[in-house]
Amino acid sequence: MTFNELKQTLNTNELRYSDFDKIRNLVYDLSGISLSDNKLVMVYGRLAKRLRALKLKTYNEYVDYLFSKKGQTNEIQHLLNCVTTNKTDFFREENHFRYIETNAINEVLQKTNNVNIWSAACSTGEEVYSLAITFRELQDKYNFDFSVIGSDIDTNVLERASKAIYLAEKSEDINFEIKKKYFLRSKDRKNVKIIPEIRHKVNFKYINLTSTEPVFNNRFDIIFLRNVLIYFDIETQKQVINNILRYLKQDGFLFLGHSESLLMRDIDLVPVSSSVYKYCKNNKL
Ligand SMILES: C[S@@+](CC[C@H](N)C(=O)[O-])C[C@H]1O[C@@H](n2cnc3c(N)ncnc32)[C@H](O)[C@@H]1O
Repeated sequence: MTFNELKQTLNTNELRYSDFDKIRNLVYDLSGISLSDNKLVMVYGRLAKRLRALKLKTYNEYVDYLFSKKGQTNEIQHLLNCVTTNKTDFFREENHFRYIETNAINEVLQKTNNVNIWSAACSTGEEVYSLAITFRELQDKYNFDFSVIGSDIDTNVLERASKAIYLAEKSEDINFEIKKKYFLRSKDRKNVKIIPEIRHKVNFKYINLTSTEPVFNNRFDIIFLRNVLIYFDIETQKQVINNILRYLKQDGFLFLGHSESLLMRDIDLVPVSSSVYKYCKNNKL
């Protein structure tokens, strides 16, 4: 199939390929998220609610609005909220939490008794609360304090994360003892809420990982950057890793998603476990 034929098949009645192209270029410039041709139908579906909210009839009108002065002020964040993919779970990729309990904690506590953790691209917060629960459990064994920051580019997920309320079925696979200790059930049993003691250990912040603007004035012992690099091309992945490393302490730990790997060579990260890296200057442990 030629590229032009492919473009024809990608056209839907309402979202023309040329409009899709304008939208995805804008998304890329704003967030680094790379949308391939086969994401046209996804974008079409996800933006439908914005057309309804704005009472617009066609995607072409939507694109005109998006690029207008008013749209550039009012619509950009809505667009980003629509195109991000927010799939996450409590204790997702569980061996990372086990690695913290059995390895990372010992090393980190040799350097500090106030552990700072950043869950970059935290989506609706399950990763942040899983980290806070893991460290709260470790406090029964070791004497230290900790805090967890969760960040994302999507304002809707950040709002949901700070509420700490989830459908009960999202907590089904969590160990029974942990669930009993750290989750409250709603009266109708449909929802669960994280207990205040854990909620007080976490904070949420809007951060665009592709931006080079300073975002913190401290460094972290542990950074989770999981299941977000997959949305970026190689250039953006490099840029994001470099941005992130500004905030990782020497000998700190970086966790990526299991399907992600570091493709760059000239970088001071040494693999220490599956998708876990240690930040060692000169690449030496
Ligand atoms: C699939 S979720 C990963 C959630 C969690 N880290 C996990 O592994 O379960 C990816 C998240 O990355 C966020 N994201 C995408 N591009 C981003 C960017 N440029 N800056 C910050 N967050 C971004 C999305 O909004 C989404 O919530």
